[in-house]
Amino acid sequence: MSSKVLIVVLLNSIVCFSLTVLPPQLKFGAATAAYQIEGGCGKDDKGKSIWDIYAHSIPSPIKDHSTGDVACDSYDLWKEDIKMIKFLNLHFYRFSISWTRILPSGFSNRINSKGIEYYNKLINSLLENGIEPMITLYHWDLPQNIQILGGWTNSRIVDYFADYAAVVFRFFGDRVSSWITINEPSSICRDVYEYGNGAPGLESPGIGTYICGKNVLLAHAKVYRLYQEHFKNTQRGRVGITIDSIWAEPFDEGDEKASDIEMQMSFGWFANPIFSKMGDYPDIMKTTIAKRSSNQNFTTSRLPAFTDAEIAIVRGSADFLGLNHYHTWAVSNINYSVLDVSFDADKGTYLQKKAEWKDPDVLPWGFRKLLVWIKKQYDNPLVYVTENGFADSSESLDDQRRVYFLESYISALCTAIQEDGCNITRYAVWSLMDNMEWTDGYTIKYGLFHTNFSSSYRNRTKRSSAFYYKGICSLAEPSVTVV
Ligand SMILES: *[C@@H]1O[C@H](CO)[C@@H](O)[C@H](O)[C@H]1NC(C)=O
Ligand SMILES: *[C@@H]1O[C@H](CO)[C@@H](O)[C@H](O)[C@H]1NC(C)=O
Ligand SMILES: *[C@@H]1O[C@H](CO)[C@@H](O)[C@H](O)[C@H]1NC(C)=O
Ligand SMILES: *[C@@H]1O[C@H](CO)[C@@H](O)[C@H](O)[C@H]1NC(C)=O
Ligand SMILES: *[C@@H]1O[C@H](CO)[C@@H](O)[C@H](O)[C@H]1NC(C)=O
Repeated sequence: MSSKVLIVVLLNSIVCFSLTVLPPQLKFGAATAAYQIEGGCGKDDKGKSIWDIYAHSIPSPIKDHSTGDVACDSYDLWKEDIKMIKFLNLHFYRFSISWTRILPSGFSNRINSKGIEYYNKLINSLLENGIEPMITLYHWDLPQNIQILGGWTNSRIVDYFADYAAVVFRFFGDRVSSWITINEPSSICRDVYEYGNGAPGLESPGIGTYICGKNVLLAHAKVYRLYQEHFKNTQRGRVGITIDSIWAEPFDEGDEKASDIEMQMSFGWFANPIFSKMGDYPDIMKTTIAKRSSNQNFTTSRLPAFTDAEIAIVRGSADFLGLNHYHTWAVSNINYSVLDVSFDADKGTYLQKKAEWKDPDVLPWGFRKLLVWIKKQYDNPLVYVTENGFADSSESLDDQRRVYFLESYISALCTAIQEDGCNITRYAVWSLMDNMEWTDGYTIKYGLFHTNFSSSYRNRTKRSSAFYYKGICSLAEPSVTVV
């Protein structure tokens, strides 16, 4: 394998990276999400989402008591975003559409032309600059009006989500060819319904968690089928879903089974129904939850079953598998009481960092193992890495740790493609700039660009990692074929 040296002038230093030649099919991008950057809360007829309500609840559930009312103010400052994207030389930019900016009531009976105009300006400007838009339809900002009806635990949401998606495809689909239906189902269903961490702040452990999961899968599949039926012929785009996953390394010899259960019940929960040959949830998940439910005297499994027709609709409903990856954990078994009605008790695993891991936040070998596991498990699907990045709480511009993180993870990615034969064509850094990190507010930073939240201009400033990533994007020359 030949290698190349990349010389990057960072803020306070010049760094040489010895890099395997980048796989020619690999395209580089950066990612954001509407609530985290847009602000423009209530502007131009935007309706309220669950995050608008949640972040304003008292006492504040947000670490620094902040909200996303202004965030990076990308609603007004989107031209500044374009400048950063151009500086980085990105091949694509992944962002999300705010459902209630397009449909203020949540329902498709009334379309907000100002919202349409905003995304038209953004999309057109990206295209004029040779940058491909990659759009997420749902990145957690559910219309409050739909939450009132039960949100993701009401199966009607499947139709409401499809109605919204149809509007988006109708208005933007002529210029956009990469669509992600839903970002991180397990964050939507587990972090929220299981742990109450995030909007709408409701908890229904071991029950609502799985109802939500089923509806997310059905909503995704309905939108995929809708696109195939009504838009694919003319718009020729690709529709996928983004699932987040850790890598679950066995803690010790003998913990392989625990590692497998962790992977199956966290990632397989959403990936298996779509990407496995047979469809449906992983067997181990079905049997474990059915057995525990029965021991708890529930009349049926707390994991709601799919009908055969639903299995068929969901199976194969993606043109690519979007993957968000941040962490590797060591996994072992732990005993929960048989009476414990929760996702964690169903899973029965314990996650920790190993003492021998010198830098437990930077474990690129875990990323590679995860990519190889996905290849084996789902017969080498086309994977887009839709998020990967490094968090700290530093205002510093010379973010050497982030540069080191990106360098080692991009290397692991290249190895997974070149040596392990994984089918990966996209990689996006989370995030373009510091933004509103949900319940962490503005306390943690992921940005290639620093955002000054004390200034009404929300000035964006290049970090060292921006110079590094620009080097990578400029080095990569993806072939013309777009997959
Ligand atoms: C389930 O019901 C049986 C029979 O009524 C009872 O013996 C058992 O204690 C119940 N189990 C739980 C977990 O409540
Ligand atoms: C869990 O409980 C079972 C049965 O009581 C026991 O055999 C096993 O060693 C326990 N495992 C752990 C990890 O504590
Ligand atoms: C990657 O996946 C795409 C879509 O399924 C397929 O067309 C392509 O042949 C695959 N490439 C490899 C190297 O497996
Ligand atoms: C952020 O903006 C404020 C207000 O304009 C300014 O006082 C401060 O120096 C800026 N901070 C940085 C790190 O640029
Ligand atoms: C912040 O942005 C404003 C508007 O673009 C600009 O006038 C100002 O000089 C910037 N401040 C800094 C510290 O760069």
